[in-house]
Amino acid sequence: MTPFTYRDGGLHAEDVPLSRIADQVGTPVYVYSQSAIEAAYDRFAGALEAELGAARTLVCYAMKANSNVGVLAALAARGAGADIVSEGELLRALAAGVPADKIVYPGVGKTRHEIAAALKAGIHQFNAESLPELELIDAVARALGVRAPVALRINPDVDAKTHHKISTGRAEDKFGIDADALPEVVERLRALDAVDLKGLAVHIGSQITEQAPFRQAYTRTAELYRWLQDAGWPVDRIDLGGGLGIVYRDEPAPDVEGYARLVRETVAETTDARLAFEPGRHLVGNAGVLVTRTLYLKQGRVRPILVVDAAMNDLIRPALYEAWHELKPVARGAGADELTQMDVVGPVCESADTFARARPLPAMRAGDLLAFFSAGAYGAVMASGYNSRLPVPEVMVQGERFAIVRRRPSFQEVLSSEQVPGWLGRPADAAPDRAPPDTPVAGDPAASAGTRKTG
Ligand code: LLP
Repeated sequence: MTPFTYRDGGLHAEDVPLSRIADQVGTPVYVYSQSAIEAAYDRFAGALEAELGAARTLVCYAMKANSNVGVLAALAARGAGADIVSEGELLRALAAGVPADKIVYPGVGKTRHEIAAALKAGIHQFNAESLPELELIDAVARALGVRAPVALRINPDVDAKTHHKISTGRAEDKFGIDADALPEVVERLRALDAVDLKGLAVHIGSQITEQAPFRQAYTRTAELYRWLQDAGWPVDRIDLGGGLGIVYRDEPAPDVEGYARLVRETVAETTDARLAFEPGRHLVGNAGVLVTRTLYLKQGRVRPILVVDAAMNDLIRPALYEAWHELKPVARGAGADELTQMDVVGPVCESADTFARARPLPAMRAGDLLAFFSAGAYGAVMASGYNSRLPVPEVMVQGERFAIVRRRPSFQEVLSSEQVPGWLGRPADAAPDRAPPDTPVAGDPAASAGTRKTG
């Protein structure tokens, strides 16, 4: 059930009018419902625990979907672990109170530094995606005098039947270790003393709305797990990844209980493994909206064009995946049912900055607020500073209260990490409060003096 409903003619997040948040925090602004996040987590974890037992179930929220510390803290308080993909995510998870021993770490490009940081933190496991990565994990663990718990992420060559850019389990995708190469890889593991092989991992893609791909991938993973045990490896866990979809438009409603049953049938009944899960979108996607204000209604040649103050840099999913996000006006007045088709666009200077084409909407005027739905996952986290637009603030609502969980920085803060190279001199109109640009010129023998400027 959505936490965003109309009351007294205005769209609310739980019990807070979105117009109040927009007025106080400014637009665009992301708004998350804590209760909706908790409800999604409780349903997902509850369904799995009912089928598999609590002792066998570990839910590690895939924080790439939304890594705001407020969101993480709410989930950590519910008992969630985290799926991280970088040192930055490790630090955020720990800062938000996720216990290190509930953290799993997939990703094809872990650096030496990141591996060391995760080992020092004492994470639950690395989901290793290649032999060279395993060799590096071994070397780093050895240097630190520790052992590295590892699950091998296999690529089962299964088509998740989702958008091609977010499919990860086909043979041609960059993820995981080719399932057929597993015997060879584990043979090589015998020489890697600091690596502790704990089990297998699999993740075939995101926004999956059918059960068949999960069934295929999980059945294959369970087979490989039993093969490892038969070969004498003391494995005891399988990480089944994330991917369960949400409703953006007219997709079938995700069947969480059906998914949990499928896991029991394919993996829990056929192996003795403890099972981890990495849901991201499913827990937060429909718990967030992006609120934007209309700047202009212009008459395009083909149809009216509504220009709003959010842009592709704030919510990139429509531009990147042709994603459809429901759009609703925040104020619902008379004439709410008289719809006109319009294009909805942002201010960024390219045509990809189009959120919707020919979308039926009620009459809108400059200053009116609109909400993009299903923006809680892969929204704020994928934002960029394109066109020198400021990062969007994020707000969390609980009942009648709300808190800014990420404030909008000032232009000065954003600019403070940049500087003009010393050899360009000080622009006449540079901000007066910034240090003189006397950066040493790299490779210049006179650079140590820090004064010489080259032409
Ligand atoms: N585990 C692994 C190893 C992953 O790569 C991902 C997502 C997840 C779990 C979580 O998947 P979820 O439960 O959220 O579907 N930016 C795209 C989605 C990219 C997903 C990347 N990996 C979008 O906006 O649709």
